[in-house]
Amino acid sequence: MNVLILGLGGREHAMAWKIAQSPILTQLFVAPGNPGTAEVATNLNCSLSDFSTIKKIVLEHRIELVVVGPEVPLVEGLADYFFHDPMLSEVKFVGPDKHAAQMEGSKDFAKQFMMRHGIPTARYATFHAHEVEAGQAYLASLHAPYVLKADGLAAGKGVLILDSLTEAQEALKTLLSGQFGEASARVVIEEFLTGVELSVFALTDGKHYVLLPEAKDYKRIGEGDTGLNTGGMGAVSPVPFADADFMRKVEEQVVAPTMKGIQAEGMRYTGFVFFGLINVNGNPFVIEYNCRMGDPETEVVMPRIAEDVLPLLVAAATGGLEGKTLRFDERAAATVMLVAGGYPEEYVKGDVITGAGDTSGSIVFHAGTKLHDGTLQTNGGRVIAVTSYGSTIHDALEMSYCNAEKIDWRGKYYRRDLGMDLK
Ligand code: AMP
Ligand code: GLY
Repeated sequence: MNVLILGLGGREHAMAWKIAQSPILTQLFVAPGNPGTAEVATNLNCSLSDFSTIKKIVLEHRIELVVVGPEVPLVEGLADYFFHDPMLSEVKFVGPDKHAAQMEGSKDFAKQFMMRHGIPTARYATFHAHEVEAGQAYLASLHAPYVLKADGLAAGKGVLILDSLTEAQEALKTLLSGQFGEASARVVIEEFLTGVELSVFALTDGKHYVLLPEAKDYKRIGEGDTGLNTGGMGAVSPVPFADADFMRKVEEQVVAPTMKGIQAEGMRYTGFVFFGLINVNGNPFVIEYNCRMGDPETEVVMPRIAEDVLPLLVAAATGGLEGKTLRFDERAAATVMLVAGGYPEEYVKGDVITGAGDTSGSIVFHAGTKLHDGTLQTNGGRVIAVTSYGSTIHDALEMSYCNAEKIDWRGKYYRRDLGMDLK
């Protein structure tokens, strides 16, 4: 089977690494990919918003299965494009259609969905551009800190958490007057929840699902969970507090009702459902849905899948997941994200990376790298994810930290405290 993965980050490298091990794989392509994916697949140059070039690639390389990494092409309707094109409609497609992708593409859509299906989430209200004053009054009825979310996709910058009421009221006004264009034409204001976050993933065919290994992502740039939010500074799996009892609650109170809702509403949802959860006094609440895998979570989730993932992806795309289960690797996995100095604010690209080939005991996933005249260089804020196995997440982290030292470039930074908050 010929497979195409769309995307260019560490998530897609981890997916490619896993799919490349499948005995039923013929050829693997990644578009556009990165120097890491080039080690296990053939990279094809392409913009993910350019659907007609994606079509050309699929036809030219006789692609039978497409796996979409990031959310943007899904929210822009890539699945619909495939379903409606007679030359593509037979291609197996892992990713929800445009309507179902609203679970991530619109915070208000997701909130209304959760309300309809009784899924635990923070209390909220949504305000439109002409409702600034009503929104400010709603803020005044809540307690600090205040959580404001641009309704649409805002490249990870659309969530504000503010301590002062005046600041929050000002921020609401700025958002609603178009700070993120159409994405902040509506703003969700919600109650602040206190607890530890957890990422849970399901793979679904729209009716049935399998759960993938859970993971914990470290979002803040600074040690001790301080400073600005990032795309993710590392991840571990399994997550110690997500014991059988907690995961049963997650499945009963969150995953099963979400899947039932997806089915009851007739959504065309094939692919990954990412439940961004928070553990509030032992009970799971949904912070957000994403219609794709997480990054860097994928860099620990894929290594912990103990069987061939390709038949499962085929089953998800073709309505065949009923009765399927998934074996997890008994070992723990951890990934440490090495980032460019200055990230998530301004940073430079094009610094020469050394030592990336010198890392036995770990798997190096490329996130933001490029090859320039044969040398490996930085090409993004998040540059390389160093993943390791261990008998515990702490052993796995130790190995990743050992190898994180060996990889270098000017200004490299990583958090050295991953896992310290967990037993
Ligand atoms: P999101 O883009 O929805 O994942 O939000 C970004 C981050 O903001 C989350 O990962 C949480 O750390 C935080 N966050 C979002 N909503 C809430 C909430 N209701 N209470 C506490 N923290 C939140
Ligand atoms: N690691 C969080 C995300 O992928 O959104």
